[in-house]
Amino acid sequence: MRKIESISSGRVSKNKENIISLLKNKNKSLPTKYLYDDLGSKLFEEICDTEEYYLTRTEKEIIDQYSMDIIDTSCAQEIFELGSGSSKKTKRLILNALENNDNVTYFSFDISAKALKMSYNQLRKISNKLHIRLIKGDFNNDLNILSSSKKNRLYMFLGSTIGNFDDIQAKKFLSDISNIMKENDSFLLGVDRVKDEKIIKMAYNDKKGITGKFNKNILNVVNKEYKLNFNENNFAHNAKYNVQKSQIEMYLEAITQQSIILPNKESLDINIGDKILTEISRKFSEKTLKMLFNKSALVPIKCYTDKKNYFSLYLLKAKKYF
Ligand SMILES: C[S@@+](CC[C@H](N)C(=O)[O-])C[C@H]1O[C@@H](n2cnc3c(N)ncnc32)[C@H](O)[C@@H]1O
Repeated sequence: MRKIESISSGRVSKNKENIISLLKNKNKSLPTKYLYDDLGSKLFEEICDTEEYYLTRTEKEIIDQYSMDIIDTSCAQEIFELGSGSSKKTKRLILNALENNDNVTYFSFDISAKALKMSYNQLRKISNKLHIRLIKGDFNNDLNILSSSKKNRLYMFLGSTIGNFDDIQAKKFLSDISNIMKENDSFLLGVDRVKDEKIIKMAYNDKKGITGKFNKNILNVVNKEYKLNFNENNFAHNAKYNVQKSQIEMYLEAITQQSIILPNKESLDINIGDKILTEISRKFSEKTLKMLFNKSALVPIKCYTDKKNYFSLYLLKAKKYF
């Protein structure tokens, strides 16, 4: 197994205080990144294979169709994927990059060690001209400490993971990317589009209940991290579509009265019906994207979409070089 390189911006950790205030807030929430421990990453892979989760299938279809054009247009000599997960969809892009270059470096960047291991296993046999680097880090904090390269780099952020950010977080993330991009670098961004509400809702409420397991697992992760006493059996999975905000909101809804002991030893009462927000998944319109790109100093140079207009991949450049 290839070595995992850990990076961290070394910021003073305010995590405990943050968890306490998120749980004490009237609108309770937990940071989405805690969905992804070993089990969470495995469950996410299972979600991607469900009939209802059109996102992965559709994005893969677009990549398979336009991969060569993406590689040719970006002149990519190396690929840097943020929140890579298992890198399944990336394989085609790497193969095309290898057709154009003597050797290619692929950076798999994720917060989950399990995801990095899956990524390595997915790609390690592709070619001896492929150099794989596994980087464990947090894309919300660590982007400005990434080392740059003399080669043309294609940054990628797939799976509509950008949908997990509200406007402020999305602008920060996209601005961080445009700041680190050099003149010959490009950025490929996968986004889920606004569509029929029924199709979206089904994707987060699969018949087999895998998304429910994935959602509840966040409680086991924060229990371990902060020595809390959540019991996942005391909550139900609740994913609903907020039409006004064009976003799925994934909650854990309390089905019994319970008390949680917080890291500062305070007791927090949770009543039946109380909800904890674990993830938002925004669906984007052209107008919202244009606004976000503009605010983040990114310029779209190509947009690839499937026939049903369910999902899009944008190839972007940093505005500072125009
Ligand atoms: C929605 S999944 C997408 C995975 C993959 N890109 C795909 O398209 O299937 C989000 C990925 O981002 C990773 N992730 C979540 N929060 C993160 C963070 N703060 N920093 C780095 N990676 C993170 C997760 O471990 C997971 O692999």
